Amino acid sequence: MKKNGLIIAIDGPAAVGKSTLAKLIARELNFLYVDTGAIYRAITWKVLKNSININNENTISDLVSDTCITIERVNNNSLKNYNHIFIDGENVTEEIRDPKIDRNVSQIARLPKIRKQLIHLQRKLAEKGNIIMEGRDIGSVILPKADIKLYFTASEEERIKRRYTELIGKGYRVDYEEVKKQIVQRDEIDSKRKYAPLVKAKDAFVIDSTKKSIEDVKDEILKIIREYKKSRGKQIENNTI
Ligand code: CDP
Repeated sequence: MKKNGLIIAIDGPAAVGKSTLAKLIARELNFLYVDTGAIYRAITWKVLKNSININNENTISDLVSDTCITIERVNNNSLKNYNHIFIDGENVTEEIRDPKIDRNVSQIARLPKIRKQLIHLQRKLAEKGNIIMEGRDIGSVILPKADIKLYFTASEEERIKRRYTELIGKGYRVDYEEVKKQIVQRDEIDSKRKYAPLVKAKDAFVIDSTKKSIEDVKDEILKIIREYKKSRGKQIENNTI
């Protein structure tokens, strides 16, 4: 892949804090940020809107072929509203966070045909470099040559609490046990699917954010990036790159 800038891949389970940290780092470094989960969520939104059975791989695949997804950076500094995602020109940024999408997205994301169709779009978005892309299979399948790979973890309890608080904060009337069930179920489907499961790439750094502040995790990641840039500088000097 021809590129001019750094490529950072972040993977990890549901509600682990990938998006928050990826956005913070992208803002700090002035990088592009791509949340690939939003792409699967947008497809799910369209599938549900068209009342298509979530197990019908061929019909969903036709729908994906006939769909245009675009991501646009919003021109302000807020982390909440960082990118907007459009599907066939319709802005679905807010709607794709609805718990109804949580309940269905992993069923669709496990379908190999659909995942394969979305590879090109994801690689194209990363092509120019200076990008942070996050999801489940970024370091392993989408961008296996990424310069820096990070794999996020946090205890299940903490992840459930974070997502519950987030949804309540957005005004959704959700039940803690229901949020728990969805997260456990999604992780199970995402990590057990045959094609491109959630996995830590061999060369990924593990970032455990349990009981750490956002600032601490951010510093940990910026340190990894600094060290990488330093070592790459040396490789360039020694002509080994
Ligand atoms: O934000 P959260 O951690 O809840 O999930 P997300 O990143 O928005 O992803 C939603 C769902 O999309 C995941 O549970 C996966 O089923 C699917 N996904 C995937 O399969 N591969 C990706 N690269 C990104 C998301």
